[in-house]
Amino acid sequence: MSEGPVPTAAGAERYPVLLGLAGRRVLVVGGGRVAARRLPALLAAGADVVVVDPGPGAEVERLADQQRLTLRRRPVQPDDLDGAWFVQACTDDAAVNAAVAAEAERRRVWCVRADDAVAATAWTPASGTADGVTVAISAGGDPGRARAVRDAVLAGVRDGSLPARRTRGRHGRVALVGGGPGDPDLITVRGRRLLADADVVVTDRLGPRGLLAELPDTVEVVDVGKTPHAATPAQSDINDLLVRRARAGRLVVRLKGGDPFVFGRGGEELLACAAAGVECEVVPGVSSALAVPALAGIPLTHRGVAQEFVVVSGHLPPGHPRSTVGWPGLARSTATVVLLMAVEHLPGIAAALVAGGRPASTPVACIERGSTPAERIVISNLDAVCTAPAPVASPAVIVVGEVVGLHARTGQARVAAPAPGNRQTLGDGGSGQEVGLNMGLNLGLNMGNDPSRAT
Ligand SMILES: C[S@@+](CC[C@H](N)C(=O)[O-])C[C@H]1O[C@@H](n2cnc3c(N)ncnc32)[C@H](O)[C@@H]1O
Repeated sequence: MSEGPVPTAAGAERYPVLLGLAGRRVLVVGGGRVAARRLPALLAAGADVVVVDPGPGAEVERLADQQRLTLRRRPVQPDDLDGAWFVQACTDDAAVNAAVAAEAERRRVWCVRADDAVAATAWTPASGTADGVTVAISAGGDPGRARAVRDAVLAGVRDGSLPARRTRGRHGRVALVGGGPGDPDLITVRGRRLLADADVVVTDRLGPRGLLAELPDTVEVVDVGKTPHAATPAQSDINDLLVRRARAGRLVVRLKGGDPFVFGRGGEELLACAAAGVECEVVPGVSSALAVPALAGIPLTHRGVAQEFVVVSGHLPPGHPRSTVGWPGLARSTATVVLLMAVEHLPGIAAALVAGGRPASTPVACIERGSTPAERIVISNLDAVCTAPAPVASPAVIVVGEVVGLHARTGQARVAAPAPGNRQTLGDGGSGQEVGLNMGLNLGLNMGNDPSRAT
């Protein structure tokens, strides 16, 4: 009905406005389906709603029973407009709507007409709110189009893909955001939204680096990526950087690969913020320890195969004086062992597992750059990886356990992934064989109390 910049009788444009209806009388004439659609927004606005209808529908009756509105079960009469600030004529009788609109006009009260947009003096846009942003869309009298634009804008605000940066009420703080294993689609909605709002992004070598290209030029990007064996900033320098930028009033997003607390040193950064009195929000991420095997079709637990999994850092070899990993226990158990940072020491780790009791035939999956277009999967077994350098390069997740045997079977069911990679399984191979590859309108926005977000 009334969606859109239908020209007024005088041919002029409509004037968009938001109304403060809290505690103010709104008259709704007609209590059927149209009213039922309109009422939630009026009630959410705190309006004092009066509905007049001799035979209202079930939803209006329900709201009346809950005393959320006043229901007059009779035909409308002129004095129903007494005290009303706003009227909605929602009956299916054009003559009744016209009479209500005429009385509203006489009293200088804005009136929406469900049946005649041209004769109306007010129009209800397709509207909604996300993260403090109210969106109201009118699309030339095409309500379906208005709803589609509204939904797209709200989705963009929610997932951070629209540049809806706050410009008011900002204060210095840090967000430790887990970015997932690398595919930009595998960051959380919260993480993506914070990234879109960031003043400073302190990023790692791993994680969804593709998202950095979407940041506006005004965002300071500091790459503290830690490459094995390359000179990288000390953790204390990173901590200082986070604290200094936050103290300067900036929203600092510390974008980390996977989950910030899984071998991510996020705990140290959180403690540094706490010690400095800097607000810090932790946004969990999809850890590569779980996501990379999952994307390869390897369930870490599987009924009748494995009831537990253990995530282990392999950055120190078994027997190293600083290693705290209980390799003998892992060797004796049937738990799936998920190794991170283990490419360099894989032969020693495999040898320790076999020496401790794991069958040498235990399958091993080595997955390099999981979730990215460069993903490589090599299936092998403990016996084979004991004696040769790891068949993949870092970063890789290495899975040891009988669940790896499911890779061949689950691969049949997996489908090509969407961008960035076209994940496809090429079939299973024998020991040490590479088996999987990634080949590669009128639009109104209200930003809470922040008008500059609306420009
Ligand atoms: C310092 S740890 C950080 C782990 C991260 N916090 C997480 O939850 O995924 C880095 C290790 O994670 C693993 N890793 C991270 N992203 C990966 C990916 N996309 N593919 C394979 N391994 C990955 C590798 O074992 C790498 O050496």
